[in-house]
Amino acid sequence: MAKFSDIKGFVFDLDGVITDTSVFHSQAWHQVADKVGAPWSKKLEDGLKGISRMDSLEMILKAGNLSDKYTDDQKVALATEKNTNYLKLVDQMTPDNILPGIKAFLDEIKDHGYLLSLASASKNAPKVLEKLQLTDYFPKIVDPKTLSKGKPDPEIYLKGAELIKLKPEQCIGVEDAAAGVASINAAGETSIGIGDKQTLKDADINFENTSEMTLANIQKQMA
Ligand code: G6P
Ligand code: MG
Repeated sequence: MAKFSDIKGFVFDLDGVITDTSVFHSQAWHQVADKVGAPWSKKLEDGLKGISRMDSLEMILKAGNLSDKYTDDQKVALATEKNTNYLKLVDQMTPDNILPGIKAFLDEIKDHGYLLSLASASKNAPKVLEKLQLTDYFPKIVDPKTLSKGKPDPEIYLKGAELIKLKPEQCIGVEDAAAGVASINAAGETSIGIGDKQTLKDADINFENTSEMTLANIQKQMA
């Protein structure tokens, strides 16, 4: 693991880290699964975290052995329906939807001069940040449209570091998804996993929930 004193920036995931939109994504995908008749499980729900829209749909169809049942156009229609339902939930969001301790942590790292970027697979990330009134904290956002591979590939976290002109070893990546932690690790950044220790067992540092994430707690776990 890198030394705490080497760290100059943070690359953040959004859904499930800054705000609990992962619950909204799950709710909207669950509707799609019910519609197509694919079985919904906690394992599938966890596996979808951090995964792009079309790849998520493919995973749901696969779980129901339905991959060949839909044409590409029908798949796009299903994904669009999911997104419409998801956006209805996003529309109701306010800054109250920021997860506990996150605003304080963002202020803390900003005040200490760390650089910040966003590495979310979501094409809706700018809209979610706007609803949370956090747009100003993230002038640098990886555009998921420019990615050739999604998480767990390192590409998104490498771009997150590049946007703030840092080497991966100078960055900490923050994630709630196993695929995301794998992406951070493969990029050569230090990984923080927020949530279940077992699910996120590959993370360098684990916090049960966002309120535990402070610079002092991170420093304690790094040399
Ligand atoms: C994040 C979420 C996933 C979501 C993906 C794409 O990674 O964790 O659940 O599927 O973004 O989001 P989008 O808003 O573009 O459909
Ligand atoms: Mg996430």
